[in-house]
Amino acid sequence: MPKVRIAPSILSSDFAHLADEIAAVEQAGADLVHVDVMDGHFVPNLTIGPPIVEALRKVTTLPLDVHLMMTNPDAFIREFAEAGATYLTVHVEACPHLHRTVQSIKEKGVQAGVTLNPATPLTSVEEILPDVDLLLIMSVNPGFGGQRFIVRVLDKIKQARAMIDRTGRSVLLEVDGGVKVDNAAAIVAAGADILVAGSAIFEAPGHDYRRVIAQLRASGATDSGDNGKPTGHSKAVASSRKARR
Ligand code: DX5
Ligand code: ZN
Repeated sequence: MPKVRIAPSILSSDFAHLADEIAAVEQAGADLVHVDVMDGHFVPNLTIGPPIVEALRKVTTLPLDVHLMMTNPDAFIREFAEAGATYLTVHVEACPHLHRTVQSIKEKGVQAGVTLNPATPLTSVEEILPDVDLLLIMSVNPGFGGQRFIVRVLDKIKQARAMIDRTGRSVLLEVDGGVKVDNAAAIVAAGADILVAGSAIFEAPGHDYRRVIAQLRASGATDSGDNGKPTGHSKAVASSRKARR
């Protein structure tokens, strides 16, 4: 099984020491930095914009995974691309001309992602899937960190995995919202490639980011780990399978 990638969401980080926080998660083994852009309109919260992405680009070599929770992302694609975004992910609910939006992201040389809210059916991304680099499944209603994972979304993740596999393309499957050490194995077993985690990492006891990132990553380990013993992952997957029967 390929290694699961971990994307700390800086929404839960200490904004007064953002560069230090990025350095800390990078040293702790993060694979991407997840940047939540909220416009106070599409979601009831207001966060950061292109200048912060530009500032982050200067302090890390990790890919910047920019999640645009905004009503009119088309108006800002150029700015976020120039700021140094690696991935730009837009919400299907906010994009009436999604194909055009995805093409304009790709024309800027940026990896294109699409995402959908928990109540939005997967069929809304079926037609665009062959054109994107990343599919993000929201497992909370977007707007805030620290919310509880919506368990029903596990089935959607499985269906998304199957839908991606049918395209025959390597579209990354990312999950965002309420991801914790104790549910990561089930999310990875459902087919996720990337786990976004905000509060689980940045609010870790003792700020031990390395420990949490390692634990989240271990959720993607195969049944026989390095020592040949069953891992926590396999046990958790087994119990989550049992729970679904
Ligand atoms: C929610 C954001 C998430 C959020 C996740 O609107 O898109 O990226 O930061 O935070 P946790 O991991 O705390 O649910
Ligand atoms: Zn996000």
